[in-house]
Amino acid sequence: MKRPDSIVALYPGSFDPITLGHEDIARRTLRVADRLILGVARTSTHTKRGLFSVEDRVSLIDEVFSDEPRVEVHAFQGLLVDFARAQGAHFVVRGLRAISDFEYELQMAQMNQELWPELETLFLVPEARYSFISSSLVREVATLGGDVSSFVSAAVLDRLREKLRG
Ligand code: PNS
Repeated sequence: MKRPDSIVALYPGSFDPITLGHEDIARRTLRVADRLILGVARTSTHTKRGLFSVEDRVSLIDEVFSDEPRVEVHAFQGLLVDFARAQGAHFVVRGLRAISDFEYELQMAQMNQELWPELETLFLVPEARYSFISSSLVREVATLGGDVSSFVSAAVLDRLREKLRG
């Protein structure tokens, strides 16, 4: 198969909200891809209570990567493989923080492989200091009045404070 001129990666997730761990994975992906699309899923495999609307999550991601022209963000509905195909993605990237992530990630990657055998999933590992961070813990700690300033970027922190004050 001919190598494409431009490698497009798709990083899907709930991103409610985007954390420094997600940002780390996204910036690492740009070392192996020419363009990166972050896909904010309207339907997650995990049933989670959301904090931010999908539109707010998209605009936060836009703000966080305003310095990086190779990154774009879109919301998507339905199957990840269909979105990946429509975007012309060459691979999906997911972060692996710990062994506990592995089972769920392997299952999703293999299901996606069944649904569209052409699509590869690449796992990247975040810097160790981000390994314990998750959006759900950030939501919980912030909601209970804890300091999350070392887990999210300034734009996200502002919007979290605004949201929780309201
Ligand atoms: O950040 P998350 O919530 O762990 O991300 C999970 C996500 C959004 C990647 C997954 O739920 C997904 O791909 N949803 C889209 C619907 C779909 O394709 N489901 C089958 C996945 S095997």
